[in-house]
Amino acid sequence: MTGGKEPPMGKIVLDMSMSLDGFITGPEDDESNGLGVDGERLHAWLAEGNDDPQTYRPSGPSGDIFDELMATGAVLVGRRTFDIAGRWNGDHHDGVPIFVPTHRPPADNPFERVHYVTEGIAECVRQAKAAAGDRDVMLHGAYTAQEALKAGVLDGIELQLRPVLLGQGRRLFDGLSPEHIELELVRTLEAQGTLHLRYDVRH
Ligand SMILES: NC(=O)c1ccc[n+]([C@@H]2O[C@H](COP(=O)([O-])OP(=O)(O)OC[C@H]3O[C@@H](n4cnc5c(N)ncnc54)[C@H](OP(=O)(O)O)[C@@H]3O)[C@@H](O)[C@H]2O)c1
Repeated sequence: MTGGKEPPMGKIVLDMSMSLDGFITGPEDDESNGLGVDGERLHAWLAEGNDDPQTYRPSGPSGDIFDELMATGAVLVGRRTFDIAGRWNGDHHDGVPIFVPTHRPPADNPFERVHYVTEGIAECVRQAKAAAGDRDVMLHGAYTAQEALKAGVLDGIELQLRPVLLGQGRRLFDGLSPEHIELELVRTLEAQGTLHLRYDVRH
């Protein structure tokens, strides 16, 4: 095709549930306890008004956020989150492709839709966005989010702010270098027990 417009491309948006004191896990997060000690309280918003344990879909404004997340066309996930989550058996939702930045790809990858990317975060984002087309890409992982922010390739942040004080664990923005990253608050949704905050990252 010549002379045509580039097809519209989706955004890459970090999606995390965070405590009021900034933690995305409690202490000792590992394969046996993905969100660490007491960390499951961060994900309790998924159960709000949900009487169908098969779907995880909460009701009210949280349900709208859930639908938005499930409409994403690819997932980019840090290697730690991916491994701790049991690699989701190769499918996070609806069989969309999963892109995992890593320095040490596994020798065997049994999952057709899982792509390990060793050429850095910007290349990983490029591949995920290309795969998602005009849909957004969901990003998971604190370290990985910081890598994307530092590289200037993160477009947005969707936080589920939970009324929880964990006091210890893994903080979302811990250790971020003090360069100026400017955010714009573009949406707030108040659900029972959860504040949904959406920021655009200014490039
Ligand atoms: N609260 C929530 O909503 C929520 C959501 C998701 C995850 N979590 C939790 O968050 C924790 C994981 O977060 P995390 O910050 O520790 O780790 P992470 O971001 O999930 O993964 C970090 C790893 O990803 C790879 N990576 C990231 N950027 C890279 C780059 N630029 N180049 C090469 N490799 C790169 C590296 O893997 P290699 O070491 O292989 O190189 C790095 O060690 C887990 O406990 C998970 O359960 C919480």
